[in-house]
Amino acid sequence: MTAKVIDGKAFAAKVRAQVTEHVARLAEQNGIQPGLAVVLVGEDPASKVYVKNKHASTIEVGMASFEHRLDASTGEAELLALIDQLNADPKVHGILVQLPLPAHLNSELVINRIAPAKDVDGFHISNVGLLGTGQKSMVPCTPLGCLMMLRDHHGSLAGLNAVVVGRSNIVGKPMAQLLLGDSCTVTIAHSRTKDLAEVCKRADILVAAVGRPEMVTGDMVKPGATVIDVGINRIERDGKNKLVGDVHYESAAAVAGAITPVPGGVGPMTIACLLANTLTACCRANGLEEPKGLTA
Ligand code: GUN
Repeated sequence: MTAKVIDGKAFAAKVRAQVTEHVARLAEQNGIQPGLAVVLVGEDPASKVYVKNKHASTIEVGMASFEHRLDASTGEAELLALIDQLNADPKVHGILVQLPLPAHLNSELVINRIAPAKDVDGFHISNVGLLGTGQKSMVPCTPLGCLMMLRDHHGSLAGLNAVVVGRSNIVGKPMAQLLLGDSCTVTIAHSRTKDLAEVCKRADILVAAVGRPEMVTGDMVKPGATVIDVGINRIERDGKNKLVGDVHYESAAAVAGAITPVPGGVGPMTIACLLANTLTACCRANGLEEPKGLTA
């Protein structure tokens, strides 16, 4: 079997087009423009690229983008004061503090200062609890993007065996909650799981989010399974710098029914879902109907 390639780039473009259309309607009918504030502390090169891309994408869909770049030496009190100011600003519907923060800042304290309704990353403890109890919440962008692609491919996910490899707060745990919410039978596997290959091989849906290059190989994939690769790893191969996922693509694609490539799979969905979350937050803040198909 050669797997169907799930084109995340094309899917993300479709999501962004839906967001653009809804944003235009909000302006026309309600005189409202959704706004996203992104806070970057320090000079981490990867973070600077992410923040630049987020700004450009936000503008492109017609939203307002508020960038706050702070010096690496910024103190906790100053950062918390900025978050308080953004929480109180009616033009700001979404707030994202780019992680990782410099080591002297307490990420949990900072994230939990964001008003839960504006927490478009879905990292605030209130949103984690709401998602875990099946209540309306803000949902982390990467797992939300994976869920959208899975729903699109399968229609209903009910009754399918889903295995999530990785237990991070950003991807693994919320992904498992979302799959459970769609009535999958969910297993969370991780680095200490016994017989990982055997556990993975039971999956109709296999989500790899461990941050280890090409760890999931074809012999771990059930024939016909859907494989979602969340990994983004830079490796040296044949003297070249290469981007690979957590899945060994060639061997997995030979067995799977469908697979997301790296790059061009899950990656582009993350920013698209950040924009979708900002739109959702804006609609909720104004008591307006939420966009369909863009939430969990
Ligand atoms: N750094 C890397 N990924 C993310 C993300 O999804 N959200 C935030 N806030 N920081 C990140």
